[in-house]
Amino acid sequence: MSASTSEIKRVTTHVIQAMKKRGEKIAMLTAYDFSMARILDEAGIDILLVGDSASNVMAGHETTLPITLDQMIYHAQSVVRAVHRAMVVVDMPFGSYQSNSEIALKSAIKIMKESGAHAVKLEGGAEVEESIQRILMAGIPVMGHLGLTPQSIYKFGTYTVRAKQEAEAGKLLADAKLLDSLGCFALVLEKIPARLAKDVSKSIEIPTIGIGAGPDADGQVLVTHDMLGITKDFKPRFLRRYLELFDAIGEATQRYITDVKGRDFPNEHEQY
Ligand code: KIV
Repeated sequence: MSASTSEIKRVTTHVIQAMKKRGEKIAMLTAYDFSMARILDEAGIDILLVGDSASNVMAGHETTLPITLDQMIYHAQSVVRAVHRAMVVVDMPFGSYQSNSEIALKSAIKIMKESGAHAVKLEGGAEVEESIQRILMAGIPVMGHLGLTPQSIYKFGTYTVRAKQEAEAGKLLADAKLLDSLGCFALVLEKIPARLAKDVSKSIEIPTIGIGAGPDADGQVLVTHDMLGITKDFKPRFLRRYLELFDAIGEATQRYITDVKGRDFPNEHEQY
């Protein structure tokens, strides 16, 4: 990087919203640890999402439900320490905001205070209106999340595309307009028809960030471990893999094992 840390201009909610206005796409990826966040930030990513997908890719759970508020804060602290430019958004985990708006506000404040992140994200529309209002009133930027909302997986029963039927698409559009009017600064649209994502993106002022929502969202997000091919068996149609790291790391590990067992590592230059 040529620019010194102090010269780097931080990505803020205003920067994100200006990008939509001038038609510049927003690039977001997930991050859960210091080393990966440093690489993604230096590469120029706009937003790093400390997603509750950490529950899957970091902890090996089947769903996002088990991860706790303190675990999310631990991941967020590690990411914040690595980042100079990107905006850091932290997922509010399942159970930290659904019961009532006071608990939601307390959880959001805890995330902001203890992690040093710049915004929170939570799933849902009208059902969480009061919580979003209270968090926003406390001065905390909120990113919304509609469509496939993994914290409700047991209600949906499946990870298939959402809002294909008119009634669900109508509710999603109404929820998107609500989140816009409440003052959310951006909105994730997960696994919905491309046509609907286009309509939503045109109908609201705030940027939409799609995952499996087609090319007309104002930005895109992927889970970094999927994009880099660290997760091997997860291959939804929307995913583009930029590396096959599962295999590459496996091969490197096999070479290391061979070198250790063959007494080739360490050699005379690799010792004191
Ligand atoms: O937790 C996560 O990684 C997410 C993205 C898929 C948007 O919410």
